[in-house]
Amino acid sequence: MIYFDNAATSFPKPESVYNEIFKAMREYGANPGRSGHRLALEASRGIFETRNRLSKFFNAGNPMNIVFTFNCTESLNLGIKGILRPGDHVITTSMEHNSVLRPIKYLEKMGVENTIVKADKMGGINSKDIENAIKPNTKLIVTTHVSNLTGTIMPVGEIGEIAKRYGIYYLLDGAQSAGVYDIDVERMNIDLLAFPGHKGLLGPQGTGGLYIRDGIELDGILQGGTGSASYSLEQPEIKPDKYESGTLNAPGIVGLGEGIRYIEERKIEDIRTYEEELTSHFIEEILKIEGVRVYGPLDVNSQGAVVSINIGNIDSSEVAYILNQEYDIAVRPGLHCAPLAHETIGTFEQGTVRFSFSFFNTHREIEYGIKALGNIAREI
Ligand code: ALA
Repeated sequence: MIYFDNAATSFPKPESVYNEIFKAMREYGANPGRSGHRLALEASRGIFETRNRLSKFFNAGNPMNIVFTFNCTESLNLGIKGILRPGDHVITTSMEHNSVLRPIKYLEKMGVENTIVKADKMGGINSKDIENAIKPNTKLIVTTHVSNLTGTIMPVGEIGEIAKRYGIYYLLDGAQSAGVYDIDVERMNIDLLAFPGHKGLLGPQGTGGLYIRDGIELDGILQGGTGSASYSLEQPEIKPDKYESGTLNAPGIVGLGEGIRYIEERKIEDIRTYEEELTSHFIEEILKIEGVRVYGPLDVNSQGAVVSINIGNIDSSEVAYILNQEYDIAVRPGLHCAPLAHETIGTFEQGTVRFSFSFFNTHREIEYGIKALGNIAREI
């Protein structure tokens, strides 16, 4: 199968990621941080190494500023619910995933106000609109880095600068960018960074994390065993224990560490350049096909490796079905858990057929995808 659904989860992973996960399960599958025996220590060491790698990768300072979660959704829930209180105001955008919008709507019922800044038709956000939405009680700004619908790259540097100037926390959703686009939490004034382990960072599903800037205290969403201060009935206050209860996904986290090592070895800028080449060629060629509508900026300087399209008025699920059945191509149709983003670009009824590429896609696969779309557009 030709896999163009990397925005949902990257596949395949580097061979070394599979090997590390397998090794962790076979050779030291003990519970990290719970016992002092050799195998438990080995598992703890593997987890620490990944934490350390992640903190360097995002310039996060102390490795303990990285908290492991099971996915980016959990990280976003922790960041949003952990910081907002009744009476606070949060600013977000119409390009967000439901993992941002649903927690914010949930909090609305508890008296947390929100403003959803509308993007333009290309999915672009004007940072001035964010600044204009600031109120005296604004506590948090949450935006995605790269849209999971149009691939639009958001002006995160400008937003971070605004947040810093007004003393507001900035939570960045790195779901579609971590591992491909540079994220430096210091330079970009990011206070909280939510990231999945299983997309651009090339780790397995069931991994993710939240960077929490020094000095920020969130209310945890989980309480339970941490392997530390077991005498106490209160959750420990120290990071990361305060936010990590229950047995961690040790094999997954070790696999994630290997994914980052692979990115460092292959160089993030080379990975990005390659994805840009694929995306740029794909956009250029499909724009020539009669009946195909392509959404987003259509320029890799402002767009990640995510391309949403439609063919005529055909339902996006039908096109995806044909791609799957007749061409063995995997894409994601529908609303991509981002209903307001679809409203913004005018595709709420039809959805879109989303192609999303990775470092492991080849030029040949892209050619085949272009050809398949040409055939479908001609036949329908
Ligand atoms: N958030 C993922 C996507 O966009 C699952 O497909």
